[in-house]
Amino acid sequence: MTSRVAIIGAGPCGLSQLHAFEQARLKGAAIPEVVCFEKQSGWGGLWNYTWRTGLDEYGEPVHGSMYRYLWSNGPKECLELADYTFDEHFGKPIPSFPPREVLYDYIVGRARKENLDRYIRFSTPVCHIEYVAASRQFKVRVRDISADCDRTEEFDYVIVCTGHFSVPNMPAFKGIDRFPGRVLHSHDFREAREFTGKDLLVVGSSYSAEDIALQCYKYGARSVTISYRTAPMGFAWPDGVVEVPLLTHLEGRTAYFRDGSHKNVDGIVLCVGYQHHFPFLEDSLRLKTQNRLYPGSLYKGIFWEPNPKLMYLGMQDQFYTFSMFDVQAFYARDVVLGRIQLPDAAAMAEDISLWQQREAALQDAFEQIDFQKDYIVDLAEHVDYAPCDWDMTTQLFKAWEHDKEHGILDYRDKSFVSPCTGTQAPIHHTPWIEAMDDSMTCFLAQQPVSTP
Ligand SMILES: Cc1cc2nc3c(=O)[nH]c(=O)nc-3n(C[C@H](O)[C@H](O)[C@H](O)COP(=O)(O)OP(=O)(O)OC[C@H]3O[C@@H](n4cnc5c(N)ncnc54)[C@H](O)[C@@H]3O)c2cc1C
Ligand SMILES: NC(=O)c1ccc[n+]([C@@H]2O[C@H](COP(=O)([O-])OP(=O)(O)OC[C@H]3O[C@@H](n4cnc5c(N)ncnc54)[C@H](OP(=O)(O)O)[C@@H]3O)[C@@H](O)[C@H]2O)c1
Repeated sequence: MTSRVAIIGAGPCGLSQLHAFEQARLKGAAIPEVVCFEKQSGWGGLWNYTWRTGLDEYGEPVHGSMYRYLWSNGPKECLELADYTFDEHFGKPIPSFPPREVLYDYIVGRARKENLDRYIRFSTPVCHIEYVAASRQFKVRVRDISADCDRTEEFDYVIVCTGHFSVPNMPAFKGIDRFPGRVLHSHDFREAREFTGKDLLVVGSSYSAEDIALQCYKYGARSVTISYRTAPMGFAWPDGVVEVPLLTHLEGRTAYFRDGSHKNVDGIVLCVGYQHHFPFLEDSLRLKTQNRLYPGSLYKGIFWEPNPKLMYLGMQDQFYTFSMFDVQAFYARDVVLGRIQLPDAAAMAEDISLWQQREAALQDAFEQIDFQKDYIVDLAEHVDYAPCDWDMTTQLFKAWEHDKEHGILDYRDKSFVSPCTGTQAPIHHTPWIEAMDDSMTCFLAQQPVSTP
């Protein structure tokens, strides 16, 4: 009997997994029956922008964490799909730091080309998964929103592709319950102009804090105060943006910080990260981890150690994204197809432990980049994914890190060379700090387009 594979989520990871199976099929392999369940009505995951926050129109938690005017924070050359290049998709070289709509178009472009939607059941959240030892299958209960009913099906493999930047980590601060202004997590941030002319407090010191602070500055916030817990980001911020130690408490609209300083603010954005959250998985199947480069209990960063017929893609903290997801997906596929044999439990545990020991010794972002590259290469050597110059991608990432240190406002104005095609990206027609129009039409034009 044909085996059945359930893929949960049709974001970049889920689409990589469908692509991997489709490639095998196109090359003549017999593939299992593949069903992808996606709770949203469209694909693309976080890149599929929604204005909604809280619950969606069906009472499901809104997945989207992306906001208007979001531009890629890393060079696109570092996430390029080796078998579907930017040059192929856009028909011409494009600049290195595209806005969200452009990257969305790119990711779904390959899926459209392969008609992958025929494998996907949209508007179908997965509600519960358990493993039935007697049948050696997973029982998957889904909610079919269109038919307004639940269904249960059996699968031999489950591949979780639900992402981990959607469910907020939400600490409390003394006095925040009486703050007379907006308090929101970055997950619910959508529109920077909400803070035009206002004094904003951003809590956190990672990518969301950096990007939301600068975006609000760009769209006219009067001041932005960034409060860090462990260490400041330390960039040369423009006038009006400052970093201060951790928020201790609030009195009215006055925020007090660990160094005794204070600031009156109108709004607070908590950029304090996300939880790996899988309420649909029974406890024995549920990954429990912090946001780290090598989560525990996942052999090769993919296979659930206690039951490797359950797989997770993209659960790592991410320098690499789309290309890493592709390589993971090809590896997962080849295990399902029996092309790669998994070792015994002891060998899996030993391998995970070695990677985690190495992770624990990493000193800085440069070593973290090398670590994640080595992880990808370790997988890529065993699968037939298209060639990519992975060493070159680490050089690009490191150049990008230096660019950020030299100019946090203009690092997105740099140009990189593709590790897949050798194409040098053109410089965008408008410096990022002046580029208010983030539409694909404007980005792809040779010069700024006039807005109505
Ligand atoms: C604000 C923000 C900005 C980012 N910017 C960048 C960037 O510039 N460059 C970059 O490379 N990466 C960026 N990322 C990282 C991002 O994690 C990846 O680019 C990518 O979206 C991860 O893909 P994914 O498929 O793992 O998860 P997601 O994109 O989160 O997709 C998961 C999918 O699973 C679905 N799903 C969830 N639960 C269920 C369920 N129970 N049943 C059915 N379906 C379900 C969701 O609806 C969604 O479609 C950003 C992340 C955030 C939060
Ligand atoms: N395209 C873009 O421009 C863009 C924009 C936003 C986000 N992203 C992506 O989104 C992903 C998530 O980034 P993220 O910044 O949201 O999460 P993150 O990288 O996990 O960082 C979480 C931050 O929250 C802080 N934090 C956690 N708990 C805290 C507490 N109780 N008090 C104060 N600070 C606390 C952490 O501080 P410590 O250092 O003290 O632990 C850390 O700085 C990344 O992959 C990133 O690339 C991209």
